[in-house]
Amino acid sequence: KRLVVLVSGSGSNLQALIDACTDPAYGAEVVAVGADREGTFGVERAQQAGIPTFVHRVKDYPDRDAWDRALTEEVASYEPDLVVSAGFLKLCGPRFLDRFPGRYINTHNSLLPAFPGMNGPGEALAAGVKLAGATLFICDAGVDTGPIIAQCAVPVEDDDTVETLTERIKEAERAQLVASVGRMVRDGWKVEGHRVR
Ligand code: GRF
Repeated sequence: KRLVVLVSGSGSNLQALIDACTDPAYGAEVVAVGADREGTFGVERAQQAGIPTFVHRVKDYPDRDAWDRALTEEVASYEPDLVVSAGFLKLCGPRFLDRFPGRYINTHNSLLPAFPGMNGPGEALAAGVKLAGATLFICDAGVDTGPIIAQCAVPVEDDDTVETLTERIKEAERAQLVASVGRMVRDGWKVEGHRVR
């Protein structure tokens, strides 16, 4: 199965997928990696692995809709079975969502519906919760609101800082992403209302 991965940053989740895909039994291949900005380590990781890359910056387009169209067409040109947002810091528009219905997924560093948005670990720490974690979900038009595919929890330790908690979450998050994407490409999945099975 064909994966297109979108990144904005360090791309450690992308790297986990690239590594998993080296095993033919995994059943997937990262066919392209896209970014919304120049100079990300994620794109560099892809280049090192010999994977085609592309960058579409919102500011290079007259408006958000034109950006959305360009991104949609570029991603579609790789004919992905699954599009994975892995630390991609943009909300895709209706055009993109309509083109990949139920096939555009995102990994977020909180146990949704708690702490959506940019600062999941920091908000978990500030709220004093004892369990934090990561959520893999199918993107819809909202911010971190789509149907949930998988969740994993990690403990919040008394001496955690945002950095230590973020790292603990990310380790579990990468394992979850690899396991869930592998299961999805091998077994398929169904979205029924807000539930994914
Ligand atoms: C992940 O923890 C994701 O949940 C958050 O940003 C992080 C991306 O990390 N939105 P990386 O770029 O895959 O290392």
